[in-house]
Amino acid sequence: MKVEVAGLAELEAAAKKILQKAKEEKIFLFYGSMGAGKTTLINKLCELLGTKDHTSSPTFSIVNEYELENGSIYHFDFYRLKNQNEAFDMGYEDYLYSGNYCFVEWPEKIADLLPEHYVKVEIKVLSEVDREIELSIK
Ligand SMILES: Nc1ncnc2c1ncn2[C@@H]1O[C@H](COP(=O)(O)OP(=O)(O)OP(=O)(O)O)[C@@H](O)[C@H]1O
Ligand SMILES: [Mg+2]
Repeated sequence: MKVEVAGLAELEAAAKKILQKAKEEKIFLFYGSMGAGKTTLINKLCELLGTKDHTSSPTFSIVNEYELENGSIYHFDFYRLKNQNEAFDMGYEDYLYSGNYCFVEWPEKIADLLPEHYVKVEIKVLSEVDREIELSIK
């Protein structure tokens, strides 16, 4: 599925479509260049899923946890990961198989640790405010 997002005003509608399409899927990997809008989209998805927690990029911690009424969302940003062992050591796989939502930025950094089954979200920058989001279930 491809969704065109013409400006931030359309991001919520796009995020709703993503959640509808992904149904019961819990693991989402976000691909896209720096500033493409991974964090912005994840924040919107978290809001739609109903967290009341403040969401932001997990800059200092690699992973942020946001509470839902039923479970949690784990938001990873692997941009600053030095090597894949670091992800392994933080218990990445325990988060992944916990049954909670996992939203992962920069999955390229953990290329050997990807789950077998996930939702791939690719964000392409079309202009300063326009994006194309491609969703595929792997
Ligand atoms: N349609 C859009 N969708 C998403 N972000 C948009 C859109 N239009 C403009 N933006 C802006 O683009 C920027 C995206 O930044 P964001 O931090 O979400 O990118 P990122 O992909 O997470 O980058 P990084 O790789 O550094 O983590 C924000 O300033 C956001 O306001
Ligand atoms: Mg980000």
